[in-house]
Amino acid sequence: MKRIVIVGATSAIAEATARILAQQDARFFLVARNKERLALVAADLALRSSHEPGTYIMDCSDWTMHQAMLDAALAHLGGLDGLILAYGDLPDQARCQSDMKALRQALETNLLSACTILQLAANHMASQGHGVLVGISSVAGDRGRQSNYVYGAAKAGLAAFLSGLRNQLQAKGVRVVTVKPGFVDSPMTKDLSKNALWAQPEQVGRAIAQAMAGRRGGVVYAPWFWRWIMLVVRAIPEPLFIRLRL
Ligand SMILES: NC(=O)c1ccc[n+]([C@@H]2O[C@H](COP(=O)([O-])OP(=O)(O)OC[C@H]3O[C@@H](n4cnc5c(N)ncnc54)[C@H](OP(=O)(O)O)[C@@H]3O)[C@@H](O)[C@H]2O)c1
Repeated sequence: MKRIVIVGATSAIAEATARILAQQDARFFLVARNKERLALVAADLALRSSHEPGTYIMDCSDWTMHQAMLDAALAHLGGLDGLILAYGDLPDQARCQSDMKALRQALETNLLSACTILQLAANHMASQGHGVLVGISSVAGDRGRQSNYVYGAAKAGLAAFLSGLRNQLQAKGVRVVTVKPGFVDSPMTKDLSKNALWAQPEQVGRAIAQAMAGRRGGVVYAPWFWRWIMLVVRAIPEPLFIRLRL
């Protein structure tokens, strides 16, 4: 039985992932900032598994709560086998260019707060000699685009942080998985127009659950074809990339 903390448990991708893990007899400690929505997610998971999830209300931007959250998770679960860091926010790029508070908040939510949560969980897992850490980055972090570079920079930083953790923790029996979804139809992207490249949260959830069940860490593109799309995008020479004005 796996004991799993999900930070950002009200996210559509997190919810889809948890439903799959519930079928594998996972036990959960769910963390989110919206009390009512978290209660609904917890009630749904309680029906799908034989265990009552623990819940914790936290705005992840408040890093002073991170250790207390982890302590509460350990107390509820009696140990920690996995942590999924799923929260994030797609900022208004134009606003971030004129409002420095919005720019900094976007970096705080998508990068800085994520780093402290991951580091604290990594320290615990390293000391116990096992565990799997999952961080949801994005294909947006693979190359900065003019239309989305604040979010992209945060997700690139998160991917680099996870890469370093993976490198460091491999020898300590801890696996680190970086998930890079492409376009996913979720509340975060409700105002964007959709096309054939868009995936459902369940597809990403399946990829995450599969990676967690594997024996190694690594980078998972979800759906898989984004690995090849981003290979091409990264290979475009900078002068041409600038002319494309993406
Ligand atoms: N959707 C996509 O196309 C896409 C693509 C690539 C990567 N991702 C990443 O996938 C992850 C999950 O996103 P999603 O698609 O499932 O979107 P979502 O359903 O909108 O979930 C985002 C979640 O983040 C939570 N959140 C935001 N700021 C928070 C904070 N300061 N403290 C606590 N919770 C906070 C939101 O909580 P509230 O409900 O309280 O606002 C919400 O539950 C995110 O990291 C996102 O960046 C998404």
